[in-house]
Amino acid sequence: MDAGMMDSAGMQAASPTPGGTTAFDLATWSRQQLERVEGALSQWVCSEAPAGLGEAMRYAVLDGGKRLRPLLVLAAADAAGGLPEAALRAACAVELIHAYSLVHDDMPCMDNDVLRRGKPTVHVQFGEAQALLAGDALQALAFGLLTPEDGVPPATQALLCRLLARAAGADGMAGGQAIDLASVGVALTEDELRQMHRLKTGALLQASVVMGAACGTASAAALAALTQYGAALGLAFQVVDDILDVTADSATLGKTAGKDAASDKPTYVSLLGLDRARAYADQLLADAHAALAASHLPDTRALAALADMVVNRSH
Ligand code: IPE
Ligand code: IPE
Ligand code: MG
Ligand code: MG
Ligand code: MG
Repeated sequence: MDAGMMDSAGMQAASPTPGGTTAFDLATWSRQQLERVEGALSQWVCSEAPAGLGEAMRYAVLDGGKRLRPLLVLAAADAAGGLPEAALRAACAVELIHAYSLVHDDMPCMDNDVLRRGKPTVHVQFGEAQALLAGDALQALAFGLLTPEDGVPPATQALLCRLLARAAGADGMAGGQAIDLASVGVALTEDELRQMHRLKTGALLQASVVMGAACGTASAAALAALTQYGAALGLAFQVVDDILDVTADSATLGKTAGKDAASDKPTYVSLLGLDRARAYADQLLADAHAALAASHLPDTRALAALADMVVNRSH
C-alpha cells in the first residue's frame, strides 16, 4: 500500500467503496469523529479517583490507540441513523472495555508485556495492584457512561448495556482470554482457534457495530447484515493481529513484536503459515463487504473503509 495514502493510524484514505456512490475520505472522516471521542474520553475518565487510581485510568485510555472500536460504533450509528448522544457514549464505553482488557492482558499473570501503545504498560508504570484496579474501574465506568440520567432513552440504555455485557464477559472477551491462556503450547484445530479469536477479540468488535446500529433505526434485516459484517471484521482483525506480531517491529506496533511465538500461543500464523493467514484475512474482508451490500443501507462507506483499514493496516 502507498504510504502516502495512510495517516498516522494506518488508515487508508479516499478509496472508492461499495455502499456509496462517491469516494470516501476515511482519514478526514476519522479525524472529525476522533476529535469528539478524544474530548469525551478525556472528560469522562477524570483524574479525581482516590489514591492515584484516576491517573492510572487516564494513562491506560488517553494518548494512544487506533480507536477502531469507537469508529465502528460511530460509523454503524451513521449508517443506521443513530442518536448522536447515545452513539458517542457507546463509542467511549466500548473503548473503555477495550482499554481495560489491554491493561489486564499485559499483566504478568497473562501476557507479561512491558510495552503498549508505545509506552510502558500500566503495571510497569503504576504497579500490579493499581493496574488491576484501573481495569476494574474502567469496566465499571463503561457501564456508567451507558446509563446517564437523561439524554438516552431508557430502552436504548438497557439494550446497549446488554450488548456490551455479553461481548465483554464469559461469552465474549473474558471467555476468549481464558481459552487463550489455557491454550499455551496446545495445538488447536482451526475451528477451536476461530472460536477463541471470535470470543477474545471478535465479540467486542462485533458489539461495536451492533451497538452503533442499536442507537438508530435499522430494520431487522439490516441489523442481521451488520451483525454478519461485524463477525467477519472482528475475526479478520485478530487474524491480522497474529500476522503483524510476526511481520512488524515493536516500534511500529507500539507493543512487543514476536510475542506470540515466544509465548507458544496458537495463532493463525502458527496454524496456517503467513500466506494462508493473509489469504484468510482477505476472504474475511470480502465477506465483510458482501454483508454490507446485503444490508441495503443507503451509505455504508465508512464501515467499508474501516474494514479495508483493519485488513490492510500496518499496526
Ligand atoms: C490490540 O487491539 C489488542 C487486540 C484485541 C488484538 P488494537 O490493535 O485495537 O489496539 P489499540 O487500541 O490500537 O492500541
Ligand atoms: C488480546 O489479544 C485480546 C484482548 C482481549 C486484549 P493479544 O494478546 O494478541 O493482544 P496484543 O497482541 O497483546 O495486543
Ligand atoms: Mg493476550
Ligand atoms: Mg497480549
Ligand atoms: Mg496479539
